[in-house]
Amino acid sequence: MNKKMFVMAVAALMGLSTVAGVSAEEVANKDKPLVWYNRQPSNSSTGDLDMDALTYNDKTYYVGFDSNQGAELQGIMVRDYIEAHIDTIDRNGDGMIGYVLAIGDIGHNDSIARTRGVRKALGTGVEKDGDIDSEPIGTNNDGTASAVQDGTLEINGTTYTVRELASQEMKNSAGATWDAATAGNGIGTWASSFGDAIDVVVSNNDGMGMSMFNAWSKDNNVPTFGYDANSDAVAAIPEGYGGTISQHADVQAYLTLRVLRNALDGGDIDAGIGTADDAGNVLSPDSYLYNEEERSYYALNVAVTSENYQDFMDSTVTYAPVSNQLDEGAHPAKKIWLNIYNASDNFLSSTYQPLLQKYDDLLNLEVDYIGGDGQTESNITNRLGNPDQYDAFAINMVKTDNAASYISLLDQ
Ligand code: BGC
Repeated sequence: MNKKMFVMAVAALMGLSTVAGVSAEEVANKDKPLVWYNRQPSNSSTGDLDMDALTYNDKTYYVGFDSNQGAELQGIMVRDYIEAHIDTIDRNGDGMIGYVLAIGDIGHNDSIARTRGVRKALGTGVEKDGDIDSEPIGTNNDGTASAVQDGTLEINGTTYTVRELASQEMKNSAGATWDAATAGNGIGTWASSFGDAIDVVVSNNDGMGMSMFNAWSKDNNVPTFGYDANSDAVAAIPEGYGGTISQHADVQAYLTLRVLRNALDGGDIDAGIGTADDAGNVLSPDSYLYNEEERSYYALNVAVTSENYQDFMDSTVTYAPVSNQLDEGAHPAKKIWLNIYNASDNFLSSTYQPLLQKYDDLLNLEVDYIGGDGQTESNITNRLGNPDQYDAFAINMVKTDNAASYISLLDQ
């Protein structure tokens, strides 16, 4: 018997099966490691976490980033920019700083947090049910919209009024949210109604932000702010893009696969995270935090502006402290099913997935990447017809309320 046959015979005796050359242990699907990422299981109306989904089994986690810390940074980045450029920013010189806001998904916690962060920093937020209202206002020519108020900024002894002139959820007719093309059209409509009253453009992400920048703001010299630090957005900073926030996708993509790796290895779940692993990978405490109660890992955000953009030019570079190859003997290959809810989402496809593809090699994971259409959950769940073939799952839902539709497939 040669070595391969011997290994297969032993595997058969131990109740292991072989899938595409990778041995998958006979573990019930409901007991396999599961990570939710980018879209935290939660109620899209109240934001309450879906704890049933987050504690599905003892190997279930969420990986995302600290949305409040990032949202606050984004708001402050915009305010700092206005203060630093007050001599030139008020394009029509009426003493009022007008901004428009592209909203990603009104039912997504990250989007809600960013809308709140901007309104808070600019003084335009109004309180609703104990928090800042995050509703889109449509248009607000005269400052009477009820979900916002006119804010004021004291700069060099002068008081400026700040008005949210317009905001809208950028959802296309088929239902895709965070839709860049919709934002690109939207800015045209806003520019024709508000003209040079628009002094600043803000977006919940870079996909929409860059679409507005390319369609209008760049030519009109209007600073535009996004979120995600996608490479194209960072490259646009010297051309007038105001700034963006890195949500440390390099750390998130790592954590997404790392928690699965650790759960599959059955050893220390913190290996290569808070504790150095056998290859020397370890994250520093200023790059992420873990909330045990929420079973959630959150990467920490960093503002990217004209001062530091050079350090962020390539958003697909792995994070140096966790870029060491794991030994294949100690961490044998495993099969992972992973979906991206929208194959054309700028952040997920141009930043997150390329990072995942680098880390899957480093962590000896064989990942099947399933790209969704961004609109229908069944387009994705239909492609999880054979969970038995995988050792673990990484899920990015279309809607944060829909965890149950995945869980029911694993329960069977
Ligand atoms: C990103 C967005 C992206 C969304 C998808 C957010 O964290 O900032 O750019 O569209 O995730 O769920």
